[in-house]
Amino acid sequence: MSLITVFGSINVDLVAGVDMIARPGETVLATGYATLCGGKGANQAVAAARVSPKGRVAMIGRVGRDGFGQLCLDNLAANGVIVDGVTSGAEPTGCAFISVSADGENAITVASGANGCLAADAMPAAEFSATTTLVLQMEVPFAASLLVAQRVRAAGGRVIWNIAPVPERLSEAELRALLAATSVLVVNEHEACAAARRLGWTGDDFESATAFLAATGRVTCIVTAGALGARAFHPDGTCHTAAAERILPIDTTGAGDTFVGILAAGLDEGRGWPDVLARACRGASLACLAHGAQRGMPTAEALA
Ligand code: RIB
Repeated sequence: MSLITVFGSINVDLVAGVDMIARPGETVLATGYATLCGGKGANQAVAAARVSPKGRVAMIGRVGRDGFGQLCLDNLAANGVIVDGVTSGAEPTGCAFISVSADGENAITVASGANGCLAADAMPAAEFSATTTLVLQMEVPFAASLLVAQRVRAAGGRVIWNIAPVPERLSEAELRALLAATSVLVVNEHEACAAARRLGWTGDDFESATAFLAATGRVTCIVTAGALGARAFHPDGTCHTAAAERILPIDTTGAGDTFVGILAAGLDEGRGWPDVLARACRGASLACLAHGAQRGMPTAEALA
């Protein structure tokens, strides 16, 4: 049986609602705040689990031995994610400080905490397999993610890497190694340009940056572009496009994570690209209709 394994970050999100996001040097008063579960890895695992049969999504991550860590574990389990691969340590659970403005935009600062201590050996040997769909982001140590990706690829599995956020320190050699270990790369407009420039691209539009990444890395590279939807550039030069739903967003936090989780589930189920992209775009749009990263993530029924 196939398994979607998410190797990545787990955070508690401290979310403040504001009229306007504070600029540097400015203080703003929030209308209120909430303590919610998040982290790009955990969000992607929950998004995949909500649309998958029971027992098909596993999380490999790390939390602190604190109340926030227990909250995150309970939340993953309640969403049907297998948490046997989540370790805990003396470090604090990762925490994200999020401001969400009245028009649904956000600004996020992440304190990595325990995520920074996640090691490759947390991944069970059985998951280095041809039936594994591995999902990665950039909020846990890069060296550990790369090692896990290389071993899943060597075993014949699928690797979906969402390079969010693109770290300033990621070298050209590291990015080339990442691409070599990846089957499907997912970026937003900014990440597409930042990553392509790291490899010598000098253009100025995100679609040509994405096409460049697909050709250079010989991977399928998908760019998500908010209200414009998403486009997949394949290494043979072909493309697939899906439109976003027309919505009035309440909170865009986690929309990209919802896209990645539903994409992983669709590929794991063997769906074709048009269907996979359309479902992921629809799911990401629906996720923007509720506060918090995970609350609006749809079930399979809501996507049908
Ligand atoms: O992508 C949204 C996520 O980014 C939030 O849940 C926050 O935890 C940060 O990791």
